[in-house]
Amino acid sequence: MTTYAGAEEWVPHDGGMRKVRATLGNCRGCDLWEDAEQAVPGEGPVRARMMVVGETPGDHEDKEGHVFVGPAGRLLDRALAEAGIDRSEIYLTNAVKHFRFERDGKRRIHKTPSAGHVTACHPWLARELEIVKPALVVIMGAVAARSLIGPSFRVTQHRGEKVELPDGTAAIATVHPSAVVRSQDFTRDLGLFVDDLRAAVALLG
Ligand code: URA
Ligand code: SF4
Repeated sequence: MTTYAGAEEWVPHDGGMRKVRATLGNCRGCDLWEDAEQAVPGEGPVRARMMVVGETPGDHEDKEGHVFVGPAGRLLDRALAEAGIDRSEIYLTNAVKHFRFERDGKRRIHKTPSAGHVTACHPWLARELEIVKPALVVIMGAVAARSLIGPSFRVTQHRGEKVELPDGTAAIATVHPSAVVRSQDFTRDLGLFVDDLRAAVALLG
């Protein structure tokens, strides 16, 4: 595994989310900034009770500079609505802030960030957690789980269960919405994803 210097030296520990957003683009904690268009910051109220964590910006997010605006985002919007969650009330972010891809002609094909990238970018997510102090974190997929809990956590075994982050924050894991987008059994997997989001709402009380 390639290890990187990591984001720590770039992450401001004074000031709030405004400062995080203003400085994120300067980060050189790993090599992903080199080919991406921009770093994509988290979005949502800093006082949100629920923080939802995905993987990394995709092609659309990288171009537009906003989280979850592509196909996975549309699926997420639909599932949040079905679970009765207002997207404007959650803090939505990613475990890794720059898009990782491979070129195939003109197309940019998403590539899962490596363990080294996830570790390198973790200080940004940790800072967001420190500022927002959510009552509940929804972990979407293996990359977010690796960043927030560790490499041995299996989303497929523990989805929909209450878990705890190392700092004691309550969390619940589910699949990544792009897994639902690609599913062979879309209706079933959308239903299961919505069930997990409803379980998250129930945990918030
Ligand atoms: N997938 C993610 O994990 N995050 C985004 O912002 C878009 C797609
Ligand atoms: Fe920094 Fe994260 Fe971007 Fe790497 S992916 S350069 S650690 S913000």
